[in-house]
Amino acid sequence: MTVNRQTNRESSGKRRRRYGLLGHPLGHSLSPFIHQGIMDALGINGTYELYDIPPEELTGRMPELMALDGFNTTIPHKETIFRSLDRLSPEAKQLGAVNTVFKGVGYNTDSLGFAAVPITYADRHVLILGAGGTCRIMAHHAATQGASSITFLVRNPQRASSLAADLLNAYSKLNIRVITSGQFNTEVRKNDAPYQVILNGTPLGMWPATGELPIPERSYKTLLRSRQLEVVFDAIYNPTATRFVIIARSHRVTAYGGSGMLFAQALAAQAIWQGRPPTADIDEIARTDKEAQALRRVREALNVAITEHSPIKWVITGFMGSGKTRLAKRLGSALPLDVKVYDLDKEIVKEAGMSITDYFQEYGEEEFRIYERKLLLELLARDESMVISTGGGTIVQKGCVHDIHYANGIVISIQVSLRTALLRIGDGRNRPLAQGKDGRRNVEKLYRERFPIYRATADYIVDGNRYPQKVSYNILKAFDIPHRKKKQTEAEHSRNRNRKRYKKRPKKEGSQ
Ligand code: S3P
Repeated sequence: MTVNRQTNRESSGKRRRRYGLLGHPLGHSLSPFIHQGIMDALGINGTYELYDIPPEELTGRMPELMALDGFNTTIPHKETIFRSLDRLSPEAKQLGAVNTVFKGVGYNTDSLGFAAVPITYADRHVLILGAGGTCRIMAHHAATQGASSITFLVRNPQRASSLAADLLNAYSKLNIRVITSGQFNTEVRKNDAPYQVILNGTPLGMWPATGELPIPERSYKTLLRSRQLEVVFDAIYNPTATRFVIIARSHRVTAYGGSGMLFAQALAAQAIWQGRPPTADIDEIARTDKEAQALRRVREALNVAITEHSPIKWVITGFMGSGKTRLAKRLGSALPLDVKVYDLDKEIVKEAGMSITDYFQEYGEEEFRIYERKLLLELLARDESMVISTGGGTIVQKGCVHDIHYANGIVISIQVSLRTALLRIGDGRNRPLAQGKDGRRNVEKLYRERFPIYRATADYIVDGNRYPQKVSYNILKAFDIPHRKKKQTEAEHSRNRNRKRYKKRPKKEGSQ
């Protein structure tokens, strides 16, 4: 089928376009996936290939690249390719970086991609984490959009000085500051941190070290709770939602991950290559609703592809009776990827060959905790996407949250009221800590002790009083991952068909 279509296009005079990505080393790149998807959605007959070329070979291979219909550049060529080009767009000149080349002209569509993220900067105090190339793009955009102040949070203030000087040169009235983590913590403690917008341009939190945060955790959470923060953005796109983004969303603060920017910069490059005005707006690029829908599907598929390539572990924590096991199963079947679902208690029963109650009786709680931790670590060490429902006491153990984060895990805590937990636990079957004449009192005590720990260790908190289906849907939404399209069974299909037929049938007079 595809071959026929191509032949038709070629015979109708449309030459097959050739695009590519120049970089070194290239390794795995999502660009071929994105560009092929965009070209298919827009009916463009073209290919997109990788050109892994070290800097010392660039001059010799420039003719080969210039023969393409257009190409992108990435590390380490972004800041040096201009030497081989005739001209630069105003953005590329200002940013000193080129990521798209067309007919000898260098453009910067990363900045268009970033501008496509819907954030209001006017009269806002903006905190930028880092001071590298992405931060430069962020700062210029925030400045042109009327930010009141821009503060760079950096490890080494010296590194930010040239960026700060360039900005002052371009926007003399802008209030620019450079601070370190220590200063940031002090500001927050004194209730003196003015920021409404936080933008992360560092690689901290990127897979395979998704446990890291680009900002001190306690101060970040304090700021999120203060209600003054309006929006956060993370340029990292793998995972689709970093801990930095997930924690903000858990606090109901608007947060954007970087995959939108990644998609938008590719879209803008395609617009340039097709000779259209440079834009990253789907509705401006698509000529029909069908094309716009197809582009949105590519955008969704990109997030699935990212999550497939960079597997993360969804770890469900919460009190006995909060619904961890049910939620894990739901989430496992809702995720549009190959994902294993583990129940830590069941793994223990399987491995030990006895029930949890018997284990407690035979070896005591302390031994149980050691065994539980050992099995959790074994699961976490597997290199695959997984959902794990933990036991109620797992996350309470010292160091456990660190182990999870270290293994690309994200902690999702499901919370229920004590009343609901008590109702669900009942007589404490299979739950040794809830059994016997002191069972109820023990559960109440544990609940009070643990509740703050579940909250403090959670990256994302969900409400266990809702249906697991709804909760798993919300979790996927928080990760920007689409729900798995459920395949209908034959029986469901025929039931739905009959239902539709029945609805269509005109009602007979007098019938109910
Ligand atoms: C425990 C909870 C149980 C089980 C064990 C200990 C706890 O798991 O791991 O009885 O300390 O709260 P559930 O939370 O799945 O009941």
